[in-house]
Amino acid sequence: MEQYNRYDNQMKDQREYWNNAHSQQWLHKHSSEKTAFAEEVNKLLPPRSTMLELGCGEGNDSIYFAEQGHRITATDFSDVVIEQNNERWSHQNLTFKIQDISQPFDFGDASFDAIYARLALYYFTDKTTQTIFKEIKKILKPGGHLCFMCKSTDDHIYGQGQKIENDMYELHGHVRHFFSKEYTLHLLSQVALEVESLVTGEELIYDRQSAFIKTVARKPIQ
Ligand SMILES: C[S@@+](CC[C@H](N)C(=O)[O-])C[C@H]1O[C@@H](n2cnc3c(N)ncnc32)[C@H](O)[C@@H]1O
Repeated sequence: MEQYNRYDNQMKDQREYWNNAHSQQWLHKHSSEKTAFAEEVNKLLPPRSTMLELGCGEGNDSIYFAEQGHRITATDFSDVVIEQNNERWSHQNLTFKIQDISQPFDFGDASFDAIYARLALYYFTDKTTQTIFKEIKKILKPGGHLCFMCKSTDDHIYGQGQKIENDMYELHGHVRHFFSKEYTLHLLSQVALEVESLVTGEELIYDRQSAFIKTVARKPIQ
């Protein structure tokens, strides 16, 4: 119980942490461009896919998907960034909405052809992450794609700060759950999502060399 309360408090802090970062337009200082991952995902999606984005931040990828013809609901738990996005971006294919990933999703079953999450699914304990993957599977259409990118256990800041649980640390007020290849495969197999590709590597993320794991998985048709 002590562990649960500690985690619960941390998640409240995380909204504060991100609202503060977004108030200072922290992400914008590093990039206001679509990302390489969004371009890779766009190539594999059927035209005019119905998409959900989790943890959209400043919406650089959201507007890109909308301009490519996909209909996208882009979500974040930060009311600050959602308000900024509504002022910055306007497109008929794009809707912004507040959604905390750790809370039950406010979407019907089998609503989306694709769920896209770049640097958004690696903030939660194992228990919560497993629940999130179950929710994701529910709201994906059969044959739909889950495309997500997380920092990996090979990242240079892995292990720094206060340990919360396996592969999860708080550093300077920021909680991260680093994903290994094994953990990613385990999460997907638990909910019977089929792996289409899993790539590990390094690239600049917000101007810092970082180790990532990029995954595309598919909900079986049957
Ligand atoms: C590292 S940024 C990534 C933003 C964007 N996807 C990108 O790739 O630039 C993480 C984003 O996830 C959001 N976030 C963190 N925890 C969240 C949660 N529990 N529910 C929804 N969004 C969350 C933050 O507000 C932030 O915008």
